[in-house]
Amino acid sequence: MFTKFGVSNLTSLYRSGKPFATGAVIATIDESKFQQVSTLPHFDVEETEDSVIFTHKMAKGDVVYGLGESLGPLNKRGRIYRMYSTDDPEHTPDKKSLYGSHPFLIIDGVSTFGLLVDYPSEIIFDVGFTNKDILKITIPSHNFDFYIFETDDKQKIVEEYLQLTGKPYIPPKWAFGFQQSRWSYFSENEIRDVASKFRELSIPCDVIYTDIDYMERYKVFTTDKMRFPDYASMVKDLAKEGIKIVPIIDPGVRIEEGYPVYEEGKRNGYFCKGKDGKDYVAAVWPGLTHFPDFLNSDVRTWWGEKYKFFTDMGIRGIWNDMNEPAVFYTLDGVNRVVRTIEEFEKSDEEDKLDAVLNVRDAASNMAVKREDYKSFYHRLDDGTIVNHDDVHNLYGFYMTKAAADGLSKLLPGERYLLLSRSSYPGLHRMGTIWMGDNKSWWEHMLANIRMLQSLNMMGFFYTGADVGGFGSDASPELLIRWMELGAFTPYFRNHSALGTRPQELWQFDEETLNITRDIVRLRYAFLPYTYSEFMNAVETSTPFVMPLSFVFEDERTKDIEDQYMYGSSLMVAPVHEQNKKGRYVYLPESKWLNWIASKYEDREMKVYEPGDHYIKADLHEIPLFIKQNGMIVLTEPMNYVGERYVTELTVVGFVTGHAHYDYYDDDGTSLNYLKGEYANISIDIAKEGKGFKINLRKNDPNDILKIKKVRFEIYDDQGNIQISSKMI
Ligand code: GLC
Repeated sequence: MFTKFGVSNLTSLYRSGKPFATGAVIATIDESKFQQVSTLPHFDVEETEDSVIFTHKMAKGDVVYGLGESLGPLNKRGRIYRMYSTDDPEHTPDKKSLYGSHPFLIIDGVSTFGLLVDYPSEIIFDVGFTNKDILKITIPSHNFDFYIFETDDKQKIVEEYLQLTGKPYIPPKWAFGFQQSRWSYFSENEIRDVASKFRELSIPCDVIYTDIDYMERYKVFTTDKMRFPDYASMVKDLAKEGIKIVPIIDPGVRIEEGYPVYEEGKRNGYFCKGKDGKDYVAAVWPGLTHFPDFLNSDVRTWWGEKYKFFTDMGIRGIWNDMNEPAVFYTLDGVNRVVRTIEEFEKSDEEDKLDAVLNVRDAASNMAVKREDYKSFYHRLDDGTIVNHDDVHNLYGFYMTKAAADGLSKLLPGERYLLLSRSSYPGLHRMGTIWMGDNKSWWEHMLANIRMLQSLNMMGFFYTGADVGGFGSDASPELLIRWMELGAFTPYFRNHSALGTRPQELWQFDEETLNITRDIVRLRYAFLPYTYSEFMNAVETSTPFVMPLSFVFEDERTKDIEDQYMYGSSLMVAPVHEQNKKGRYVYLPESKWLNWIASKYEDREMKVYEPGDHYIKADLHEIPLFIKQNGMIVLTEPMNYVGERYVTELTVVGFVTGHAHYDYYDDDGTSLNYLKGEYANISIDIAKEGKGFKINLRKNDPNDILKIKKVRFEIYDDQGNIQISSKMI
């Protein structure tokens, strides 16, 4: 039995029991208008004693999108997925959970609709695995909210979803620049060296991260005075070079007498409690730690204020990690291992092998155990005590809320970069996520391409993966190809793990350096387009990155998972396989203008008819396609975003009839755009005889734009170019 509430014409809530108020949804739910219903559209419902099971019969050609950060294909059919946020750095094809839990689906086919299950613990999605035509959702509880979006327009489903959960977060403009990270740069000197290397080698760069080793004994909100004697001066000096420092912060607070964060948390009862009512103990990087109880608003306020430590230094970006929360081991876990050792000692000779294997299994399975998550508790604002396992998927969400609320207070009117590893629906309105600990594997490039699309349809517009791969060693070829992909993802960060082959662009050979430098420069040349498209995407609640099937009717596009729309005019088809000199590309519906991009200055363009094509793309080349009657907007690359005013734009268009583009810009760092302080240039291009008629209209009441001249490189359907320029 459910109660139903119409959230909008297209979105209905079906409530079962008394769900936990997760905070994912921001739309008003008026409980006085609830109606009793016994059925749900699209699903058969079976209730058992401790679970509710939803089954939907999928038609043969139905495609299932969604589930945000999860492995497997873009069309989720044929696999089982488990929503239970998990720190697992081995993203092998058999894995069912990653760091975030995103129970959102779009079923596209005979009957098209979307759904969101707002329930913060384990949910199993069997998307045609057990039975290839059955979608089965198992919720091991009777208390949850189930939303259904009823429209056969996929973009509209996303729009409804964003109306329910909030508009995507907008980072500062510099966050669209290139970002460099490594676990770890071990000292201030090393960071300064990395920064100078970027400038020396003329590789644009906006951000460098400091990973856990900047802290004193991994104590959050401290810096190591030996290795980073003057962190604040480092931040200030590098800011002069246009480089922003972003520090990592983990939730685990080291248990150490006299350490203020620990002392304050303990004194005020801010940590999660164990079964015995004492502060729960779990080991992470700092050794034994306590976990702040982010589900409590006093704790969030306290934690949020702690970021002042960084904002006072001029820092405007925070990287919150390990917030599933990751647990390396607990004392209970160690005891479990000790017991297997004792059993080994007591075992008879013929049982020794089994006993040793038990020791091995227990020892290698100490991290992220469900038993551990069942062993600690949260205290909500109204005093209710909740077992962590019941709300597990919310921990990262509420750590992000603590940070977002804190940063908003500390930096009124300013934007900040805020990253989280774990997430839940709704986090996208406060900050963003990256895709966690991938590996330098070609397979993970493809995973990156697919997840980028799945996350965008859930409001995580600004996202990306560790470019080059986090774990394992990157080959020069892999790094180059991944940089080509990364240059066309909103969040573009090269990050690698301790012990792996260094992955900065200069760590390989001269050719790799030259090619990757050109890629980063290409990224910066694209910034006017990227930023304008991103802001327009947020404004219109249209994903910034979209599967082709969200844009084109053409049935074939449902099979295309490794090409995507990047903004409204550009399709990207990255080469993601080893030793390839090109790739097959499917061009839907219309003609496309292909740019085999390498150096941004070299524009080799060719018109293609719709259909299948083999596109040559040597190691230094990336296949880009401009849509018919679409355009991109470029500028001269800079060393960092905002190094100089943009005084000239270059519009590259493919116009066969009429093309219109609304170019957007604002100051890039403040929230003034919310007050209407932004600029537009409306660009109108119409084919007229053999030439083009171009109309420009600037709307810039706050004098934001410094653009004096717009150059046009407009191609017609034969690939003939007309070059012109206009002063504005
Ligand atoms: C986790 C993060 C990774 C980071 C490492 C050390 O594995 O996902 O990005 O570098 O911890 O802090």
